[in-house]
Amino acid sequence: MSIPIEAYIDPARYRAEVERLFKHLPLALALSLELPGPGSYRTMTVLGVPVLLVRGQDGDARAFLNTCRHRGALVCASERGSAKAFTCPYHAWTYDVSGKLLSRYSADTFGEVDHATHGLVALACVERAGLVWVCLTPGENFDIDLWLGDFAVQLGPLKLDQWHLFEQRELTGPGWKVALDGYLEAYHHNSLHGKTVGKFTVGNLLVLDTYGPHQRLTFGRKSLGELLEAPETDWDHSKHIRLIHNCFPNLSISGILGDHCLVSQIFPGTTPDVTVTRQTVLVHQNPTTPEARAASEMFSAMVLQAVRDEDYAVGQTIQSGLLAGANKEFLFGRNEPAVQNYHRTVARFMAPSNCDPQTK
Ligand code: FES
Ligand SMILES: [Fe+2]
Repeated sequence: MSIPIEAYIDPARYRAEVERLFKHLPLALALSLELPGPGSYRTMTVLGVPVLLVRGQDGDARAFLNTCRHRGALVCASERGSAKAFTCPYHAWTYDVSGKLLSRYSADTFGEVDHATHGLVALACVERAGLVWVCLTPGENFDIDLWLGDFAVQLGPLKLDQWHLFEQRELTGPGWKVALDGYLEAYHHNSLHGKTVGKFTVGNLLVLDTYGPHQRLTFGRKSLGELLEAPETDWDHSKHIRLIHNCFPNLSISGILGDHCLVSQIFPGTTPDVTVTRQTVLVHQNPTTPEARAASEMFSAMVLQAVRDEDYAVGQTIQSGLLAGANKEFLFGRNEPAVQNYHRTVARFMAPSNCDPQTK
């Protein structure tokens, strides 16, 4: 398969695609475990949109524009924490964790305001499979069951809400499609990742299952060859494979070693040549011994190296080459079917006839 490099560099196309795919489809903005209890909150700016995620007293996760209804200041500046209410730093209007406008500083001098219509602006938000899904456009709704379809059955057993957050960081990377391409094939694992994640997986070997726009990649662990010696009745496949779940358009959940998991959320930047990736390292159990802690630190350092110093370092060279005009198109081999699917899915959503945000 080939696609013209305009798909990677054309600024107008980039703006249209980002608007369509990232502003109108459900995005997993956080893990449920990042909002552990009532009042837990998490703020972030996604594609320029200031978002406040907060778990209500009723246990439900909600999403709001993190913007004051008086004159628009950022209501909550802190990245994460727990609160009973949020007070705007500008004139101290105060909102509760369900977004309701609770009180206004010196309200009698200000005059009447209908509190019922001046709560924080809500974004559609639902939790499913241990993830908090949000649509970034106010007033737009989504059906998460329709969006995930059969993929929900694959995400469920990961039990993402039962892991523990070990580390979270943000990485600057190459453009959205250059970055994503690297998450969707094993062709580069021996050559680029020989010293990191490639030590644990069989390079250039992939079983792919697709679920509408979403994809599950199965890699073989290096131990896969041991099965050749064992009778098939004794095979325990879970020990010898590694699953990577990709939710369209920007989420990758990767179980690289049994007790560790890497969740990557790739967000396009303001121009086609840059992304910000939120990389979250999860541990099955919080390490209690120095050895366990060292193992988790090693995993975390390895995936940081693999993505920042290998994938994204090469991605930056691709990004420079794109503008040099050497390639008029990029090629995707038969061994890179998930990347092919990804680009086809982008094209399908951008087709003029496809105006329903949730159409698969
Ligand atoms: S802008 Fe928030 S209280 Fe004035
Ligand atoms: Fe990679």
